[in-house]
Formats: sequence, C-alpha cells, structure tokens
Amino acid sequence: ISLIFSHIVFADVCSVEIQSSDMMRYDKKIINVNHSCKSYKIFLKHSGKLPKNVMGHNLVIIKTDDLNNVTSKISMAHGLNKGYLPDMSEVIFKSEVIGGGEETILEINPSKLTKGVDYTFFCSFPGHFAIMKGKIKI
Ligand code: CU
Repeated sequence: ISLIFSHIVFADVCSVEIQSSDMMRYDKKIINVNHSCKSYKIFLKHSGKLPKNVMGHNLVIIKTDDLNNVTSKISMAHGLNKGYLPDMSEVIFKSEVIGGGEETILEINPSKLTKGVDYTFFCSFPGHFAIMKGKIKI
C-alpha cells in the first residue's frame, strides 16, 4: 500500500535535483522526466570548490544515438560559455556550465522528448562525458 501511495505522491513532481562535485561525477544515473509536466526543471548543483574553467559541469540532453557524434565535437576552442560544444541541432537541451559552490536550473519542455526514444544526459566539459552521463527516462 505504501508503494502505491508514494507513486501517487511522486506523479506530480516536475523537478529533480542532481548533484555534482570536484569528483567529476553526478549523483544520479537516471532522471525520470514526467511527460505530463508543462515544464520540467533540473536543478544542477556543484558542491565542490574548483572554479568552472577547471572542474566545470553542465547538463546536456541528446538522443543516445547521437552521443558519439556530439561528444566528438567537444573542444576547448568552443569556449566555456557554449559548454565547449558548437551549435548543433542534435543538442536538445543544454545548461550553462557551473563551478564549485554554484547551481543552475535547466528548464526543459518534456513535449520535445518522445516516449520510446532513448535519451542521454551528460556533461560536455572536455574529458567528463565518459564518467558524467546517465539516461533520461520519460
Ligand atoms: Cu563535468
């Protein structure tokens, strides 16, 4: 009974918090996006001390099929303000890069994500995506 009840309570949640740190990792491997939310907020936090140009983190959402293509474009040359990525249609959502002690909100429109399609979130700071990635479940 308690399982059913907790499911009902969580059905209306339209936000999630995900933590990162100087350890170059997220605290979640899966983000469950409620497709019925008009807007879904991902609160990204960085509990570390290192500045964003050294240990910056962001959160980028793409189709899993595009992961190799998009991550191959990561380059310092694109700059921190662009999350070290060029403008490309494969990037569906992208937060700003934050450093230690900072936080940001990535507000997404769940209707832009299709049920049945496999999506991945990752950090596009150079060298981070191999460890800092997870799945978006709709
Ligand atoms: Cu990172």
